[in-house]
Amino acid sequence: MGKLDGKVAVITGGTTGMALAGAKLFVDEGAHVFITGRRQEALDEAVKQIGRNVTGVQGDAASLDDLDRLYDTVKREKGSIDVLWASAGGGEPAPLGEITEAQFDTWFGLNARGTLFTVQKALPLFNDGGSILMTGSNASLGAFPGWSVYAGSKAVQQAWARVWLNELKDRRIRVNVLTPGQVATAKQAELFDEATQRQFESLIPRGQMGRPDEIATAALFLASDDSSYVNGMELVADGGTTAI
Ligand SMILES: NC(=O)c1ccc[n+]([C@@H]2O[C@H](COP(=O)([O-])OP(=O)(O)OC[C@H]3O[C@@H](n4cnc5c(N)ncnc54)[C@H](OP(=O)(O)O)[C@@H]3O)[C@@H](O)[C@H]2O)c1
Repeated sequence: MGKLDGKVAVITGGTTGMALAGAKLFVDEGAHVFITGRRQEALDEAVKQIGRNVTGVQGDAASLDDLDRLYDTVKREKGSIDVLWASAGGGEPAPLGEITEAQFDTWFGLNARGTLFTVQKALPLFNDGGSILMTGSNASLGAFPGWSVYAGSKAVQQAWARVWLNELKDRRIRVNVLTPGQVATAKQAELFDEATQRQFESLIPRGQMGRPDEIATAALFLASDDSSYVNGMELVADGGTTAI
């Protein structure tokens, strides 16, 4: 028996990286998964890789119209949601003194505003007893120079998880934050050169970045009844980087 048998899960930004690994695992555990991404080609490839019990819906998690389209599709195809993993997010380095208005608007627009409306717009479809998880970042814990916009735009999630679980308690919907540290994804490789990636690894106790499948198993824990008594928490999966 799978941990998500018969469940419907929505994962934003699920076309590569840790959320794609999670989508595969959720399907292996019995869920039907809706994944999103902006690039149709990457979305089609992800749907092909997952192979079954998956629907791809092209869209930008920062766009409220695209979110409406996503949930219209979920409603039409499955009628309700049990698990929402708001994973679409991102950032770029910008030290204080050089931060532009456009950078602030882009990353707060996706990581904060986009995440809030991803959750809010899902609520009418949510089954009682469901689970919401949002992907944070250990940048909001680690005081890494140059990352204040990203860190701030992710830090809101911890406050929101606590307020929202209180607002949703009558529906027994749990809300948690999954907070990865450095994870070896295509995005990492695109953003950082080899030397920078090795420097990040020097901060991790085991000396190696996380793998997408290590985040996927943490996501499964939060999505499933394995974490039925875990609510309003931040699960930090960063190999201990910000614990020391
Ligand atoms: N990688 C890390 O080390 C790390 C560490 C801490 C936290 N995080 C967080 O973890 C999450 C996933 O990161 P990742 O590195 O696995 O992913 P990623 O490679 O940056 O993105 C995963 C997928 O999400 C889609 N996506 C990006 N922006 C989107 C948007 N606005 N709307 C819808 N889909 C979007 C991308 O497809 P399209 O480009 O086609 O849209 C991409 O295929 C993010 O929230 C990130 O901030 C990552």
